[in-house]
Parts: sequence; C-alpha cells; structure tokens
Amino acid sequence: MSAETPVCQLLERQSTDYRGWLWVAPPRDRWLEEEGGRLLSADRAALSAWRERGGEASSPFAADELAPEGVMLFWPKAHAQGEWWLLWLCSRLAPGTPLHVVGENQGGIKRVLKVLAALGLGCRKVDSARRCSLFASRLDRVDIDPNAAWTTFEAEGLALVSHPGVFGHGKLDDGTRLLLAQLDSCLPRQGAVLDMGCGDGILAAWLSRRGLSITAVDVNGFAVEATRRTLAANDLAGEVCHSDVYAGLAAQRFAAIVSNPPFHQERALDYGPAGRLIAGAPERLEPGGQLILVANAFLPYPDLLERAFGGFEILADDRRYRVYRAVKRRGSS
Ligand SMILES: C[S@@+](CC[C@H](N)C(=O)[O-])C[C@H]1O[C@@H](n2cnc3c(N)ncnc32)[C@H](O)[C@@H]1O
Repeated sequence: MSAETPVCQLLERQSTDYRGWLWVAPPRDRWLEEEGGRLLSADRAALSAWRERGGEASSPFAADELAPEGVMLFWPKAHAQGEWWLLWLCSRLAPGTPLHVVGENQGGIKRVLKVLAALGLGCRKVDSARRCSLFASRLDRVDIDPNAAWTTFEAEGLALVSHPGVFGHGKLDDGTRLLLAQLDSCLPRQGAVLDMGCGDGILAAWLSRRGLSITAVDVNGFAVEATRRTLAANDLAGEVCHSDVYAGLAAQRFAAIVSNPPFHQERALDYGPAGRLIAGAPERLEPGGQLILVANAFLPYPDLLERAFGGFEILADDRRYRVYRAVKRRGSS
C-alpha cells in the first residue's frame, strides 16, 4: 500500500523505522494505518477506525500511559492547535523522546522552526518534497501549561469556553445565531434534546438553561471538552458524548435534534456527517419529534430532508443561512 497523502508520501521515503512511534493527529492514510505504531488523536472517527484495524489509539483527554520510541506530530491547519499539541507532548512524555514534525508548506509548517525555538527546543530540517517539510527535534520540559489555551467569551448571556481547533473559536457563528432565534417558538418546554456537532456547547448550554434535558455530541475531542467546560461554567447539566454522529450514542429517542451541521473536512466540502445526521434522525426521534438545523443556503439539504422525512419547512432564511424543520410523523416507528 503506497502513501495517499503528501505528508505520508514524504514519510514513506525516510529510512527511520517508525514502527514504535506515536502518530499525533495524522490525516487518514491507509499506508500509515499499515505502518503500525500508536495513534494519538482527538478525532473519534479516526480513533475508531484505527482500533477496528487492531491498532492502539489514545485520545489526549484520556489518562493512558504513553512511552513511545518517538513522536510524529502532523502539524494541523490551526497553528494554535499545533502549539497545544507540542506543549501537551512536552508535559506528558519523557524528556529526550525524539520528535518529528511534518506538514504541508502552505499549511504553515515552516513556522514550526520559530515555535520550537521559542520553546527552547532545537530543530533540524530532515527532508522536504511533495510541498511538505519534515523537521526533527526532541521533547523537553517547558514551563508553559497546555491548559492555558482554553479561553472564555460571552454570547447570549452564556460563558462559552473554547480552544484552538474548536468551531468558531471565540465568537458566535451567524448561522447559529439565526438558529437560536427560531428555537424558542418551536421547541417543547421539556423533554430530551440532542445537540449534534456541539462545538463550544453554545446550543447545548442555551437549551439546558431553558430546562431541556441535553445530550451533546461531537466527533472532535476538543469540542467535547469545550462543551463540558461550558456547561460547568454556567452551572448547567448535560450529557456530552465523543461520537461520530450517532455511532457512540445509546439507543435513546429525542423530542428534538438541533444542529448547525458540519460541511467541511479540513479544507474540502464533505456532506457525509450531515447526510448521516439527516438520514438517521427519524430513527432517533420520538413520533412527532423534530429535526431543526441551520445551513448555508447553497447546501443540498432539502433533498436529504425530503428523502428522510417526506417533507420539511423553512423557518428562517436570511439569504446566507436557512433554518429547516422536519417533523417525524406520529404513527411512524
Ligand atoms: C458548524 S460546527 C457547529 C458547532 C456549534 N454547534 C455551533 O453552533 O457553534 C459543526 C460541528 O460538528 C462537528 N462534527 C464534524 N463532524 C462530525 C461528526 N462526524 N460527528 C459529530 N460531530 C461532528 C464539528 O467538530 C463541529 O464542532
């Protein structure tokens, strides 16, 4: 199996034996999955896929003991998240552990040199090709707490806790604002509500404050942690679950599902999770239960809603975003 992504194509031509290494936040690439090694990722779908192939995988929010022969950090699109990974690795793994950092040149990998220097970690360039670069260093203790990256901001009278790499980092999304403006008039006063793709927990916290019983789900471990912190910061209750759409959820039915669904995977358009959210919603709703979601007006959700529910209505349309509601017919199972 040859490497599929440019970063892995660069790694494939190295002479280093990476088999005992820890792969940190890599892209999906079957070559990598066959190389062996352990995965460290906040992405629930990546963790599940790695484990299904028999590999060992850890989330940075679990307390697993890690003692790899070396660490390969795949530099993420969000630079601040890359810095967080570096600080986390330095705080959790043995000083002296070999560290390689790889990334695409257009994704800002060259800034890594400055970041490593600022942390007092030496660095040398190992290779570059496929518009990617690979640097080598070693982990050491540094005097900065990775938890310092958590920030709090105010929106809708709530304290929202966020982190680099969590959607909308530090501000309320315009689509979410339009969705919130519709929810008061169409949601019941009590019952169980699912917030699918919870991000920093704005919808979950808003709904919990209104007295609803909340389950919030996100595939991104940073978002799960952010939502837990948001609920706690506002003294609100709710279940928060690290799950790829419905995959990790108990078989529970909801009076409503609300969502500002994702439509990007890294830089590419990807309707996969939103498609699974809509197609699976009738099975997760009580009879008479409703799916309410906001989306950019150009996204092809009307067809998906029609197919899953046999109809839908548009609650709001400001030309940029639309809020859709689809109701599960009473009498259907
Ligand atoms: C557009 S953001 C909305 C965040 C938040 N609800 C808000 O309104 O600000 C979509 C969220 O869906 C999450 N997400 C992406 N793919 C997912 C999947 N397969 N399963 C669950 N959540 C997913 C993303 O991590 C992101 O937090």
